[in-house]
Amino acid sequence: MSSSAQTTIVRGRFLDIQSLVQQAQQIPEQVRYLEDGVLISENGKIKWFGTWQDAQPHLPENIEIQHYPEQLIVPGFIDTHIHYPQTEMVGAYGEQLLSWLNTYTFPTELQFKDPAYAQNIAQFFVQELLKNGTTTALVFCTVHPESVDALFEAAERIQMRLIAGKVLMDRHAPDGLCDTPQSAYDESKNLIEKWHAKGRALYAITPRFAPTSTPEQLEKAGQLKQEYPDVYVHTHLSENKDEIAWVKSLYPEQKSYLDVYHHYGLTGQRSVFAHCVHLEQEEWQCMHQTDSAIAFCPTSNLFLGSGLFPLKKTWEQGVKVGLGTDIGAGTSFSLLQTVNEAYKVQQLQGDKLSAYEALYHATIGGAKALDLQDQLGNFNVGKEADFVVLNLKATALQSLRQSRVKSIDDALFALFTMGDDRNIEATYIYGQCAYQKTE
Ligand code: GUN
Ligand code: ZN
Repeated sequence: MSSSAQTTIVRGRFLDIQSLVQQAQQIPEQVRYLEDGVLISENGKIKWFGTWQDAQPHLPENIEIQHYPEQLIVPGFIDTHIHYPQTEMVGAYGEQLLSWLNTYTFPTELQFKDPAYAQNIAQFFVQELLKNGTTTALVFCTVHPESVDALFEAAERIQMRLIAGKVLMDRHAPDGLCDTPQSAYDESKNLIEKWHAKGRALYAITPRFAPTSTPEQLEKAGQLKQEYPDVYVHTHLSENKDEIAWVKSLYPEQKSYLDVYHHYGLTGQRSVFAHCVHLEQEEWQCMHQTDSAIAFCPTSNLFLGSGLFPLKKTWEQGVKVGLGTDIGAGTSFSLLQTVNEAYKVQQLQGDKLSAYEALYHATIGGAKALDLQDQLGNFNVGKEADFVVLNLKATALQSLRQSRVKSIDDALFALFTMGDDRNIEATYIYGQCAYQKTE
């Protein structure tokens, strides 16, 4: 390995949210927009960030400057909930959650027993993230440990920060997708030892959801979390009304759906619960008190007819939230499209989602939901250099619309509403260009 530092210099228009806030109203004060800015990264981290003028004394000689005069550069998008094995089954027709799982999802996931199959889809998946400007994701694999190795290996090749884990599931699923409490524990433990904090990889204990785990299995999951307190917990919660009724019948002793997870020690600062569309007041309080996070997955909630997530409540109740695509119940890898649908979900409830709040959730807010706010989410010096170069005018219609914008937040809002992978010009991971759009 060379002993010289790996330095990248990027010049262009930069936009980020400088710090975390307690209320949506505070976000605009934290917006940082540099019309002509420079980011210097060294060995994957941001070494210097500021205006082109101020950058002059800091610019190393003999290093080419990547200049994007027309584009907009923002922190890499953070997807707080996605299933890589479901990449091939986006847009499966006609069902709501429980029958969708049985009809489409479980047969698809059975294929990931084959390591070659898993490797192939994992590689495709990571490329698709990059192509959509997503630089970090919290990912469901399948029950098969091989599926986890395949994903972490694909991410490792490009030094991507990824959190993932093996699914725990010991009932109400086909035999080929079921483990046992003990094998779930043993296999997860091996994977934690192998992958957690290796390079940029992080591990998540991943019970699919309460209905597919016995109490004995959730107990084992809780034991693992106690033994490895800095690994994540990643599961589903309160997505669909039939699902909630089912959980109540399977776990009659617990006060609520969330109380099942809480009872087994699965809530906390590094616990992420996908959906939370129909939480009861007590569950909101438990989310807040345990500092657990929600992954809001609007394209999925609409596609499966699950319901409308009340984003406003996350501010009112002080609960961390990020955006999730939830591929394959979700319908797009694009966080831009995810914001587009998130806005409409708020409109249907008489609320709004501003462009800056959306940028917040897609970047620094998502980082906070994943307890990675010290590493990711904006251009503060010392953070990891993951960012996206956006072309705001990828189509004729977008060009027309952007030629009429009145402000940067108007431009951003139009991008969120109309944009997708066509708008991603380049994606930088750990200071390196990992994806460049080709015409
Ligand atoms: N609940 C349990 N498993 C799943 C899944 O794979 N997708 C979604 N959307 N919800 C789930
Ligand atoms: Zn999901």
